[in-house]
Amino acid sequence: GLAEVRLRVNGNDVQARLDTRVSLLDFLREHLGLTGTKRGCDHGQCGACTVHLEGRRVNACLVLAVTCEGAQVQTIEGLGTPDALHPMQQAFVEHDALQCGYCTSGQIMSAVALLDEPCGGSDADVREAMSGNICRCGAYANILAAVQHVRR
Ligand code: FES
Repeated sequence: GLAEVRLRVNGNDVQARLDTRVSLLDFLREHLGLTGTKRGCDHGQCGACTVHLEGRRVNACLVLAVTCEGAQVQTIEGLGTPDALHPMQQAFVEHDALQCGYCTSGQIMSAVALLDEPCGGSDADVREAMSGNICRCGAYANILAAVQHVRR
């Protein structure tokens, strides 16, 4: 069936009438045109679709859009300002923390959320905390360096 949903995406009020089966990922990409959030597996296994829901990282492919009624959602498009990258985005650039770039939005959204999570400071701790974000190019060493640069 259809349902009405109102939420805030990157600080903007959004309202839509949606099939209740539409995922937050499809809603962001296909209804709002926010294609910075990527679809990898569509099954919660790769992290490419990571966004912030009420400030916490979620796999948008696993969230039904209609369950986000009244919620705050942030995507990669909402990070930083028009004039400046978010420090995590800047760190990914400076540490060359990507190859093809497909997983990068999810990596960055995950890493930004991680700044507010309890997490030990070691490389192993950060690798574990970032383990839900898969990089097929294997850019993990530089991703780790970028994340640690911002955390330290
Ligand atoms: Fe959502 Fe892979 S597309 S976790």
